[in-house]
Amino acid sequence: MSASDDVLRVAVFGAAGFVGGELLRLLLQHPRVGDVCAVSRSQAGKAWSATHAFARNLDAAPVFVAPDDPAFERADVVFAALGHGESQRSVAALVADDPRLLVDLAADFRIRDPDRYVTAYGAHARPELTADFRYALADVVGADLEGEAKLAAPGCFATATLLGLHPFRGLAMRRPPVSFAVTGSSGSGATPRVGTHHPFRATNFHAYSLEQHRHEAEIGDQLGQWGAAFADCRLLTHSGPFVRGIHATLHFAPAEPVTDPQALLEKAYAGSAFVRVLPEPPELRAVTGTNFAHLHATQQHAGEIVVTVVIDNLVKGAAGQAVQAMNLALGWPETDGLQQLGLAAC
Ligand SMILES: NC(=O)c1ccc[n+]([C@@H]2O[C@H](COP(=O)([O-])OP(=O)(O)OC[C@H]3O[C@@H](n4cnc5c(N)ncnc54)[C@H](OP(=O)(O)O)[C@@H]3O)[C@@H](O)[C@H]2O)c1
Repeated sequence: MSASDDVLRVAVFGAAGFVGGELLRLLLQHPRVGDVCAVSRSQAGKAWSATHAFARNLDAAPVFVAPDDPAFERADVVFAALGHGESQRSVAALVADDPRLLVDLAADFRIRDPDRYVTAYGAHARPELTADFRYALADVVGADLEGEAKLAAPGCFATATLLGLHPFRGLAMRRPPVSFAVTGSSGSGATPRVGTHHPFRATNFHAYSLEQHRHEAEIGDQLGQWGAAFADCRLLTHSGPFVRGIHATLHFAPAEPVTDPQALLEKAYAGSAFVRVLPEPPELRAVTGTNFAHLHATQQHAGEIVVTVVIDNLVKGAAGQAVQAMNLALGWPETDGLQQLGLAAC
């Protein structure tokens, strides 16, 4: 299929992974995407359906291609869903055909402050490129993404936490906010590990990376980019007994009392296509498989605020937000290809 101005040719690197698979699933249902090329080193030459169960429902039987395969040449949009550090090392291949848009879903180009990046992730192979990437928190940046050529899709914990903090970013805090966040096992990627092994995970719950989760650096960096009235947010990460989703409970104490925190959420997200402010604390099952984020805010004790946020880590926290950012960058309707409702019937 050939590219035209209106129907795009898209390449997905890291397409055999969880996020890559989710990108394929969403892009195949996108009205303006004509051709989707799935690039994988480990699965090149094999059918998508051997890795991604949804592909067994397709009429066609697409196969993964290797990174040096000419099949993905002339891609208009390139998504990179590679393992940590791989995008910065592969960037020459990702932009070889000068795509209109590159969307990176790893942490490689999210953090502007080089010292903060090095502290969290170690040395960066191409730090000079980070300034070219726009941090694409799509529900906050919105139409301002139009015309951008390189996007860094936010991390999943950072997305949930920043969506909860955004309405309050102008408020001085008595101490840094805390985000107590719980992720499902798909947050760890497709490679099996002890922490994602079903018997260990399915009936279990535990904290991890309490000394400092890497997304805390990303959140702090973004608060700095916003010019927020507070510099940091403590991130307390947990593994939950479910596959998809992030539930974040944010707790903070503004220096001045806030009479109606729910009204601040409603004001910040008025007219939002994907952020819903609920009258009660949200549930994961309502957003599973969707690009929606559900939020709620309430007061606890004198002047303390609790915000709860739920997202699907693979959709709003990764592939869905990346597609939303593509739509915004290319000047398309924000919701194109993303109007799936939830999966859970009960
Ligand atoms: N899972 C989530 O909830 C989530 C949310 C937001 C962002 N992310 C980010 O999205 C990226 C992909 O995550 P994922 O969960 O899809 O991971 P994954 O399931 O492990 O897939 C990553 C893919 O990247 C490719 N890859 C290339 N070089 C690699 C390397 N050195 N190490 C590991 N993989 C490498 C592999 O494909 P081939 O070897 O076949 O080419 C692999 O299939 C990561 O940077 C992750 O941090 C993940």
